[in-house]
Amino acid sequence: AEDGYRLWLRYDRITDESVRSGYVDRFATFRMGTGVDSSSATLRAAIDELRTGLAGMLGTNLAPARGAQKSGSGELTFARVPADQIGAEGYRITDTDGGLRLSASDDAGFLYGVFHLLRMVQMGESLEGISIEEQPEKAVRILNHWDNLDGTVERGYAGFSIFNWHTLPEIIDQRYTDYARACASVGINGSVVTNVNANALIFREDYLDKAAALADVFRPYGIKLYLTARFSSPMELGGLDTADPLDPAVMAWWKEKVDEIYTRIPDFGGFVVKANSEGQPGPREYGRSHAEGANMLADALAPHDGIVMWRAFVYNSDPDADRAMQAYEEFVPLDGTFRDNVMVQVKNGPIDFQPREPFSPLFGATPKTPLLLELQITKEYLGQGTHLVGLAPMFTETLEADTYQQGKGTTVASTVRGLAGVANIGTDRNWTGHPFNQADWYAFGRLAWDPAMSAEAIYAEWAALTYDGEPEVAQTIVDMLIESREICVNYMTPLGLAHQMATGHHYGPGPWVSNLGRPEWNPAYYNRADSNGIGFDRTESGSNALAQYAPQVQAMFADPKTCPPKYLLWFHHLPWDWEMQNGEILWDELCRRYQEGVEGTEWLAARWQSLEGKVDPERHQQVTQYLEVQQREAKWWRDASIAYFRSLSGLPLPEGVPEPE
Ligand code: GCU
Repeated sequence: AEDGYRLWLRYDRITDESVRSGYVDRFATFRMGTGVDSSSATLRAAIDELRTGLAGMLGTNLAPARGAQKSGSGELTFARVPADQIGAEGYRITDTDGGLRLSASDDAGFLYGVFHLLRMVQMGESLEGISIEEQPEKAVRILNHWDNLDGTVERGYAGFSIFNWHTLPEIIDQRYTDYARACASVGINGSVVTNVNANALIFREDYLDKAAALADVFRPYGIKLYLTARFSSPMELGGLDTADPLDPAVMAWWKEKVDEIYTRIPDFGGFVVKANSEGQPGPREYGRSHAEGANMLADALAPHDGIVMWRAFVYNSDPDADRAMQAYEEFVPLDGTFRDNVMVQVKNGPIDFQPREPFSPLFGATPKTPLLLELQITKEYLGQGTHLVGLAPMFTETLEADTYQQGKGTTVASTVRGLAGVANIGTDRNWTGHPFNQADWYAFGRLAWDPAMSAEAIYAEWAALTYDGEPEVAQTIVDMLIESREICVNYMTPLGLAHQMATGHHYGPGPWVSNLGRPEWNPAYYNRADSNGIGFDRTESGSNALAQYAPQVQAMFADPKTCPPKYLLWFHHLPWDWEMQNGEILWDELCRRYQEGVEGTEWLAARWQSLEGKVDPERHQQVTQYLEVQQREAKWWRDASIAYFRSLSGLPLPEGVPEPE
């Protein structure tokens, strides 16, 4: 039965005999060229993967070559080249007389090259005369697990943590290896295995042994292990009475702790830190800046080449402040004051993983501080993983957005050193709950490797690798994934609305909620709807958050008559009868968008229905069930939102929009 455990690395036997035998001829033997250390753990992992993959797909046993090389013999040669020819983690695959040649300057390059070759075979692509060169665009390609040491996963919707801290370090679950394989296959080279809301316990010796056991599993797959650092650890674990980053005892504690980590994990990656955010401890408690806090940790890590990923996700409770502005206000003045091994990690939007937000104004605004783009792969605010919402179009929307900070073409992608993705992985058989959620783990890795890839191209790969069948199957799946994001935006938060989800769990609609202790957690704070109109004025007449963007970006959004409708109510508060660019009044357009969202979920269900009998029945049924949930909940979103907003606008429903139930 198809349970989804194998993800996109299925390696099933190729059924077309002529295609299969064509590949058999190409992969008779493999040979290690001079300088390739075939005993390295990474090379061994690469060869293992290749043999497993080819055994599955071709039914052959790839063997080491013996004797001199003969041309046309179906030999795959691994060739080590100097780093000035192919850079770190990169590879080249060529097909010449002598057969296929995979060249790289480091072990990771060989591993990634092997996954590329396997993908080509899985997708039935021709190897004839190929000449491929790949180099990762970003050095940091990292998953952030919001996994707690007790096994729960914050905002995780696919079971419990795959990291079993109870049975580590002795019990090495096969899942750890399969996780590393899956990550490596899409180029992910780092894993933060603990939650940003961190627990100091991870730094206790026994937990460090557990972490080290995970690092040992990841290492052959080119994946570094990172941990989250709770800023108050010197107090909680070290018994100090302060965590002041300028206190010598505090500095000494971290230095010693970091040294200790490196004795266990020699290639430890470093720390992710959430400080002075949502109640987490941090340097601000001692009157120190985020830079002073980050630099103290950076100094402890620097001798070992470790890095600090310091999150910019900060905001405080001020009913008069605009939460969307606070990260910029806090971090831009610190530009130039961070150590070289600090990166500031910025969520894609200025608020928090909404179905749609404009890009954060921090991108490109700190030329002296390397940034990481933080994306969510899990689906908080997006139906918690039960809704089919392909996130790749959202990822690319952000990556491609032009900040204009260094003139035209300063895309968000060009301003960041790497990508961090909040993982959607758990103990569910298929890792991600909804079978389609696997696609965004895949997409995240591919985009971190090459941010210029299109969402369509990535999903086309994923669909072809993950489902059997005619090209029409893959195409339908791609269409569903691509369209689904806009469908979700429409039924949840159309026209630039944001943060309309019910409180706390952020599941389902709650646009009327206005009585929470923290004002900026109230949906009503974001929609600002009343009898006159709706939307958050972020122009000069309002919070002026718009001024945090480059002038060209300001010009795009400043005038509600020309602002793209998708950001309209993000930047503008407008009367209900405001005339939209398409001639509709705002109220009618808003209602219609909700309705379009609902109709979109019906379209998704119909598309999927058309694949019945064409994809395996197990996953067909699973996805069908999830789509039923999504259709029902899209109606819930539409009806609740329209009913509430109508109580303010007092306007009739436009034609084609049903009376809320
Ligand atoms: C959101 C989310 C939290 C998470 C936080 C973060 O606020 O609801 O669960 O901890 O983001 O990114 O730190």
